[in-house]
Amino acid sequence: MGRVEFDPKAFLEKAVEEVRSRVGGERAIAACSGGVDSTVSALIARIALGDRLKAVYIDDGFRRLGEPEATVQLLKSLGLDVELIDAKQEFYNAVRGLRDAEEKRKAFRHTFYTVLGRAAKSWGARFLVQGTIAPDIIETVGGVKTQHNVLVQLGLDPRAYGFEVVEPLRELYKPQVRQLARYLGLPKEISEKMPFPGPGLLIRVVGEATPEKVDIVRRATRIVEEETRGLGAFQAFAVLLEGRATGVKGGKRVYGYIVAVRVVESEDAVTARASELPYPLLKRIANRIINEVPEVARVLYDVTDKPPATIEFE
Ligand code: XMP
Repeated sequence: MGRVEFDPKAFLEKAVEEVRSRVGGERAIAACSGGVDSTVSALIARIALGDRLKAVYIDDGFRRLGEPEATVQLLKSLGLDVELIDAKQEFYNAVRGLRDAEEKRKAFRHTFYTVLGRAAKSWGARFLVQGTIAPDIIETVGGVKTQHNVLVQLGLDPRAYGFEVVEPLRELYKPQVRQLARYLGLPKEISEKMPFPGPGLLIRVVGEATPEKVDIVRRATRIVEEETRGLGAFQAFAVLLEGRATGVKGGKRVYGYIVAVRVVESEDAVTARASELPYPLLKRIANRIINEVPEVARVLYDVTDKPPATIEFE
């Protein structure tokens, strides 16, 4: 699909028609995260299927501060019939003891689809609508990483989980999805929303993501997002590294966690540049994290572009 002459109206009509003919007279559920991709695809399905669509939001325990409740409210305000599923314990059990990034991603993906399979069954749905976009597929199939929402393209059969997958946005890139969101009249909060990975804070803790570590990175993430709001960065976040570092707090030696801050500019996440943040801003972020998240002893800033790095650490 050409990136320049994208026509949201024509795309929308075609996508609605495609969902309607795939799903026929059956029911579907839509997996929603509150991000622009899944919200747009759920709304396309809502237009196509009306009340035969149910939206579900999974609280997997890896969301940001206050995110599950706020997202469900927002999705409801867009006219989606949405249910919040609390699966925190199930996800923690699934990733307990896992340190390898790909193993964590695969365990997350398996649990994600198991929970969705149960939701589909209880709603009598044969189809799952999800917001997979082209780079998700390209990077997963290309072996860069296991994206949490790619199955069919890897030769995995979603019917094992109890549904068939419908992906109305699979040929689009982020800027086109944002255009569609604006065309649909979605609030800026969604259409211009910063991407957040499906596995969430699970992959923002390098190595084993214990509840304690997830909680630390959650608080640091809030600070980075607050301090970088208004910069227009493509993504801005905190990552909790493995290992510890020595510091001095209140005259006493501490042996605390290490947080990396990453802020990048990008169009479509396929390539990215580390943002050249003003030094006083970097210092403020570091000071706030050290002071407000007492478990942290050191803050680093990542200056690596993509390539050679990826945006996320895992
Ligand atoms: P990387 O780290 O590969 O990330 O440069 C590219 C973009 O994809 C996001 N990302 C994900 N999004 N599920 C998602 O929905 C995932 O498993 C996933 N992994 C990475 C990442 O935040 C960036 O925007």
